[in-house]
Amino acid sequence: MKALVLSGGSGTRLRPFSYSMPKQLIPIANTPVLEHVLKNIRDLGVTEIGVIVGNRASEISAVLGDGSRFGVRLTYIPQAAPHGLAHTVAIARDFLGDEDFVMYLGDNMLPEGIVGIAEEFTAQRPAAQVVVCKVQDPRSFGVAELGPSGEVLRLVEKPAHPRSDLALIGVYFFTPAIHRAVASIEPSARGELEITDAIQWLVTSGAEVRASRYDGYWKDTGNVEDVLACNRHMLAELRPSIEGEVDATSVLTGAVVIERGARIVRSRIEGPVIIGAGTVVENSDVGPHTAIGRDCLVTGSQLEDSIALDGASVDGVRGLRSSLLGRSASVGTTDRGADHYRLVIGDHTRVEVSA
Ligand code: DAU
Repeated sequence: MKALVLSGGSGTRLRPFSYSMPKQLIPIANTPVLEHVLKNIRDLGVTEIGVIVGNRASEISAVLGDGSRFGVRLTYIPQAAPHGLAHTVAIARDFLGDEDFVMYLGDNMLPEGIVGIAEEFTAQRPAAQVVVCKVQDPRSFGVAELGPSGEVLRLVEKPAHPRSDLALIGVYFFTPAIHRAVASIEPSARGELEITDAIQWLVTSGAEVRASRYDGYWKDTGNVEDVLACNRHMLAELRPSIEGEVDATSVLTGAVVIERGARIVRSRIEGPVIIGAGTVVENSDVGPHTAIGRDCLVTGSQLEDSIALDGASVDGVRGLRSSLLGRSASVGTTDRGADHYRLVIGDHTRVEVSA
């Protein structure tokens, strides 16, 4: 079996971050989503992985390299524009050959892994196997209607009036039967070749398509709220380790990771918290549920339920919550008097201050 990881796309829901980095590299508990994805694939024993990349290919290959760090072999497959999930299967045709494969959306997190689902696919080997999860509002997902023994009756992409509450998770198992389906469908109303339509084509043509129900934790990290929620979930599993320096006046409670070269000075860290290599935290309260990247600076501040990417700084700001700070972003104070804010913010940036 091979794997196809989708890391192209435009990431509009994750603006402004997706202006400067591929959304699949957003760190969750200080590890890019794509690294979590590769680990789950390697746990299946699959080592030949095609990675679909768009206009941010060089950043992705700079982080993942040839895959040897993860015990896999990566083949990068460029996609000129985000023409849809089924389009990625078409352009990966040569790489995939006539093997079965798992297609994994590079922004989906399934921390409990996908070994059980892979075993189901291998045991029954239907033409395609999708994975579904009950959600409150299925309208932003592919939605499946299932028969009594898990066979797929109908699939619809982002329906306005969903006929079930079962959303398609971003993991799909395919036999080579999918290639004919992909070649047979037309672009959807939003102009994309939808994998949901290709799978529906298989259903309509009488092929066996099955669904596994997934009860574990799953998040599509496509927007900021979901990134923060997933970060909270992943941090809950954190195993404490202190490799950096913590001075005698600082207090650490709960699960805290202080990476090498980080320094904690006169501060309170309430886990779960991870503080990246080279970061300095001084006179501050950090946590719970907070991941701070490498080489950040947090001074005289209070930060909880947040993520700061590498090189970010927070100086003199109390009460920062549920925040996502981009690479080398800085949040500070102004000396121009009370009720005075000065903002230098990029396109599609979001700032919320108390009313
Ligand atoms: O997360 C689950 C959902 O993922 C499913 O329920 C939907 O049926 C499925 O269509 C998909 O919907 P999204 O709107 O979330 O897909 P998105 O555009 O975010 O793309 C998913 C991943 O695939 C993301 O890592 C970007 C990548 N991608 C996307 C497109 C459209 C590509 O590599 N190339 C593309 O052309």
